[in-house]
Amino acid sequence: MRIILLGAPGAGKGTQAQFLMSKYGIPQISTGDMLRAAIKEGSELGVAAKKIMDAGQLVSDELIIGLVKERVAKADCANGFLLDGFPRTIPQADAMKDAGISVDHVIEFDVPDDVIVERMSGRRVHPASGRVYHLVYNPPKVTGKDDETGEELVTRVDDLEETVRKRLAIYHEQTELLVGYYRETAARGETQYHHIDGTQAVDAVSQQLVTLLD
Ligand code: AP5
Ligand code: ZN
Repeated sequence: MRIILLGAPGAGKGTQAQFLMSKYGIPQISTGDMLRAAIKEGSELGVAAKKIMDAGQLVSDELIIGLVKERVAKADCANGFLLDGFPRTIPQADAMKDAGISVDHVIEFDVPDDVIVERMSGRRVHPASGRVYHLVYNPPKVTGKDDETGEELVTRVDDLEETVRKRLAIYHEQTELLVGYYRETAARGETQYHHIDGTQAVDAVSQQLVTLLD
């Protein structure tokens, strides 16, 4: 099963990707997590991406497209994958299509901006695994620690309210165009398109996804 999770920053893509990954045994491909790992390693890619990400801007299409093509070619993607945070622009979606990478489902998470700003202020993450928590809505078992490893949770540099607002503006300018793009793709019978109310509780969203995908 090949799935695209589409939605604004903070809409819940990473949270549901973790759920779907364990439910269906397909890998999560989060371009954001890949870039953050590159920053941590201090690789050339990381150095190029850091300033852009901290400012809430998009990394160049060229860089991202190369990264994703390489990733989906790996053996663990043979039975499918979950794209989380890619594609984010029309050129990225076109590049994917040109590379012959089709998808079975596009899932759009719809959440109003004000709900997102509030969510981001309480987000805590476990960088090594990509697991995502919220102080109130999805708290870890032990405050400040990852459930599986007990390691420290951190806040993301780009979760400052000002940066979140910038990321939301970019989402509305560039990424939201993909809603129309994939609705048209679905109208041609090339994928299935699902719109989900992302303001529901985490478990309610997960249940809805299972109903759609099973
Ligand atoms: P990326 O890491 O992809 O960030 P994003 O798309 O902005 O999305 P987020 O990870 O912030 O949100 P999410 O939807 O995963 O929400 P989450 O589940 O964590 O990208 C970061 C940066 O990398 C970009 O700004 C850009 O610079 C660069 N980049 C990445 N991909 C790129 C690309 N393709 N092209 C160019 N540049 C790229 O949830 C958020 C919070 O809400 C959590 O605290 C969670 O616990 C909570 N929550 C989740 N669901 C619910 C719910 N139903 N109810 C209540 N709380 C909930
Ligand atoms: Zn995410």
